[in-house]
Amino acid sequence: MKINGKAYRTIWPGEDGASVVIIDQTKLPHRFETVTLRTAEEAAHAILTMQVRGAPLIGATAAYGLALALLRDASDAGLAGAVALLAKQRPTAVNLRWALEEMRRTVAPMAPEARAAAAFAKAQAIADEDVETCRRIGVHGLALIRAIAEMKPAGAPVNVLTHCNAGWLACVDWGTATSPIYQAHDAGIPVHVWVDETRPRNQGAALTAFELASHGVPHTLIVDNAGGHLMQHGQVDLCIVGTDRVAANGDVANKIGTYLKALAAHDNGVPFYVALPYSTIDWTIASGHDIPIEERSADEVLSMHGQLTDGSVASVAIAAAGSPAANPAFDVTPARLVTGFITERGVAPADRSGLLALYPERRESAA
Ligand code: MRU
Repeated sequence: MKINGKAYRTIWPGEDGASVVIIDQTKLPHRFETVTLRTAEEAAHAILTMQVRGAPLIGATAAYGLALALLRDASDAGLAGAVALLAKQRPTAVNLRWALEEMRRTVAPMAPEARAAAAFAKAQAIADEDVETCRRIGVHGLALIRAIAEMKPAGAPVNVLTHCNAGWLACVDWGTATSPIYQAHDAGIPVHVWVDETRPRNQGAALTAFELASHGVPHTLIVDNAGGHLMQHGQVDLCIVGTDRVAANGDVANKIGTYLKALAAHDNGVPFYVALPYSTIDWTIASGHDIPIEERSADEVLSMHGQLTDGSVASVAIAAAGSPAANPAFDVTPARLVTGFITERGVAPADRSGLLALYPERRESAA
């Protein structure tokens, strides 16, 4: 994807071979800044503070973070310690655990002196694979958008509603939910995106709207509570969201508020699709009840972060001093409310059989 005409991924290896560079997403959309990570501790900090966020990108960052750790200490203890450090930074997105397990499986059988170089190569392979996986998600999702476009009057845009940021900033490139949108736009299909602002951290306002604008995709930012109203008035043709973890029965964890959008979509007969790479499926858990939900700081609810009229960036309090606040960061949408999954292998019903039809190699191991 391009920013000011220059192609970027969200993460890339430093030229010195001993660092990795990320886009600091806490600064967007007001500033575009990169940060160089040199240690596993810095990678862990970037994940925790959400300089990088989004399930696939958290996984890729953890993979590079482990490679950075092995440059300093490639012993078995060093490997185990770095995996534990990186894994505990965010609990809901299973891609974090998936990427670390891929890394551990690759390097653990090797002699310590071979581990760091192999880890960098594997982290790069994970990042490259994510790009291709997301591209393929887009190819399959594009067919859905095209089918809807063909049922509309010529030239009328397909209105897609999305929540949070499941865009290229959440992945290494393309995005999951946004990949079909970018590919439809590039194919000349008129698309328009309703962007949920996504309180409390406003990933929709700060990141998705920024991405779509950078790519020239028509979009409109809405408050989180507007989606149901728009659906009642025929202004949403389909919803596409991302996910942080899909259980073996098809239940979907995603950013808080996704469930309410799925309920509204169901009530209004609006198709509700979830786009995901295979690395987001947690085959070890039978249902969404078992997905750990991250509880974040009350400060995120009690304040808003943004640019002041003088151009400076600041946080302002939005509640009376001392107001208590709760901040569950994700919710679980039951599979019955999901029209289908858009994956790199194709589109399938959101249930156990649909997942197993796409990934038959999991028949024996799925919970
Ligand atoms: O808390 P965040 O910003 O990491 O949450 C991100 C989301 O909820 C995304 O929808 C999800 O990770 C899918 S990203 C392709």
